Amino acid sequence: MADLDDIRDGDNFGLNTPADTSNFYLKGMNSMSWGIKNRMSRIFNRKSGRTVMLAFDHGFLMGPTSGLERIDLNIAPLAEEADCLMGCRGMIRTSIPADNTKPICLRTDTGTTILTEMNHNTLISEEDAISMNASAMAAMVAVGDAATEASTIANLSNLVDIGNTYGIPVMGVTAVGKDMARDARYFGLASRVCAENGASIVKTYYTEGFEKVVAGTPVPVVIAGGKKLPELEALELCYNAIQCGASGVDMGRNVFQSEAPLAMIKAVKEVVHNGATPQEGFDAFNTFKAEA
Ligand code: 5RP
Repeated sequence: MADLDDIRDGDNFGLNTPADTSNFYLKGMNSMSWGIKNRMSRIFNRKSGRTVMLAFDHGFLMGPTSGLERIDLNIAPLAEEADCLMGCRGMIRTSIPADNTKPICLRTDTGTTILTEMNHNTLISEEDAISMNASAMAAMVAVGDAATEASTIANLSNLVDIGNTYGIPVMGVTAVGKDMARDARYFGLASRVCAENGASIVKTYYTEGFEKVVAGTPVPVVIAGGKKLPELEALELCYNAIQCGASGVDMGRNVFQSEAPLAMIKAVKEVVHNGATPQEGFDAFNTFKAEA
């Protein structure tokens, strides 16, 4: 029985303190559910409003590519420095320790490899994404590819329905095909398509005129790093994207194929979170490398 004769009336209602009506700190997220906001704040640093996600999903397209031969040896040791780990369920389950507390952005679509026509992707089950404790789910859209545009946009849209049901943000990943122009007009269109279909994060590629891509995309935009560049150039890429309003990076090869991956991810964080210039980031890279 509930104890009815000793109920203490509350007397600390903070009557002089109005309820907090401030906006959520990330672009475009005010109308999202509590669950989506909560998961977004696991991924995006509250102070800088940005993120350094570590992408290692490449194997589902290209197998054990350089720097990803052993996720347990190549990626797990970097996890502590990443704000979020982006990968496929098989590699996370087998090779990332389950006591990892970094948020997971789970690659939630899968399909064909580089050996055939790419982008004929389908979604994995939401039950499995939930069982992985995913903080975000990622699916690729192949805007401009006649064979797969409709099915990949349908994938994203379906994933957003699922994400909205369970409070899990969806990251739309804009694909680059061999016949697609890599310019602000194309990435602006592809990024906007992701946001229009309900993505909470858009991952795309830096290009000249990137400020227009970001401005036309009403949710946080992160950039992929693309092919391996010399470290200073990769840091310039991060810096330029941030200057144009990007909310961070979801970077793979320029970290795990670096001569010093741990030093590189720390240097990327200096640029993304701490306002370092590319040269300051590069100096930090050399310092971190020497300390290792
Ligand atoms: C491709 C992806 C990759 O994760 C993406 O390309 C990021 O890796 P990188 O920085 O090596 O380009 O999502 O679909």
